[in-house]
Amino acid sequence: MIHKRNATITAVGGYVPDTILTNKMLESYVDTSDEWITSRTGIKERRILSDITLATSDMAAFAIKDLLHESGVDPKTIDCLILATSTPDHILAPAATLVCEKAGLTIAWGFDLNAACSGFLYALSVGASFIESNRYHKILVVGADQMSAIVNYEDRNTCVLFGDGAGAVLLESSSDGSGLIDNVFKVDGKGSSSLSVSGGGSLYPASLVTVADKKHFIQQDGKNVFKNAILGMTSTCSEIMERNQLDTAMIDWIIPHQANLRIIEAVSKHLDFPMDKVKVNIQKYGNTTAATIPLCLWDFKEDFKEGDKLLITAFGAGFTYGSTYLKWGKLHSKII
Ligand code: COA
Repeated sequence: MIHKRNATITAVGGYVPDTILTNKMLESYVDTSDEWITSRTGIKERRILSDITLATSDMAAFAIKDLLHESGVDPKTIDCLILATSTPDHILAPAATLVCEKAGLTIAWGFDLNAACSGFLYALSVGASFIESNRYHKILVVGADQMSAIVNYEDRNTCVLFGDGAGAVLLESSSDGSGLIDNVFKVDGKGSSSLSVSGGGSLYPASLVTVADKKHFIQQDGKNVFKNAILGMTSTCSEIMERNQLDTAMIDWIIPHQANLRIIEAVSKHLDFPMDKVKVNIQKYGNTTAATIPLCLWDFKEDFKEGDKLLITAFGAGFTYGSTYLKWGKLHSKII
């Protein structure tokens, strides 16, 4: 049987900073409690990039180096890097160029892709299309965000939710049927004001006024985001299952964006999918935006067997949202 040329994940890497910010520590910043944060979000702690000489590109490069080290893949063979991030080091130059430099990707070209918490899933699809078209052979897809750079640690509505981190996967072609099979992606611009950092762009360039108005920090209407996240992830999971003739019993794992444990549990309930097959690491890292999904793949890679069917789903600012269906393939194992 001839299979179409698929793009499959052949290596996974990750990085989280050493500094841990616990719920207890946040009690001294804002009027909150470990009990409130745990029961309302599932988060116990998050990682913070506390070294002020480092930024998102460094976390991305660390995650790539972890991937290259674990897989034994030569950085000089990487064709392209797609960096999903909402917190690039600078507005210019693109962070992907810094990452290529820092990770030793000497022949790779690359670019940033900003689709907030859906960024990694969108980037995975773009990278897969390069492989499927036979244009490129080794694509690194990275999700990395330093959310601590845009969080207001005086705002209890947001500061408890986010953390810093980066995850990376390598995409290569497969002929065994493994790899990315399908995506359902959507955007809804009506949601754009519900979750935003409005300052520092072309509408409100940085000024004393934008700083005074706290426009450089993340702002959100938590309730509206919460409701739409459940609807968006559930509906795109249902749509992708329907058009691939899948029922929940046929899916081995769901990897949801890690924004709030209650959102994840609600999606699982609506899909009638058991929570023991839903991957969750939000308690350790909080919401790391574009990094949550690759960090889940990194944390749980030992659980996935060749041929396992994964449903990955994300929701983020924009609104952006969607689901991807893929079959897990064979990872490189380093020859020592
Ligand atoms: N500690 C204690 N109390 C807090 C708090 C905190 N960290 N944050 C908010 N509260 C308070 C609110 O001020 C509110 O008080 P009030 O009734 O006196 O006004 C009360 O808790 C209830 O707030 P509410 O918004 O109803 O809580 P919630 O159950 O909706 O949970 C979120 C709030 C933010 C956790 C929840 O809405 C959420 O997770 N939204 C989605 C966020 C998200 O995932 N964003 C990223 C998407 S990619």
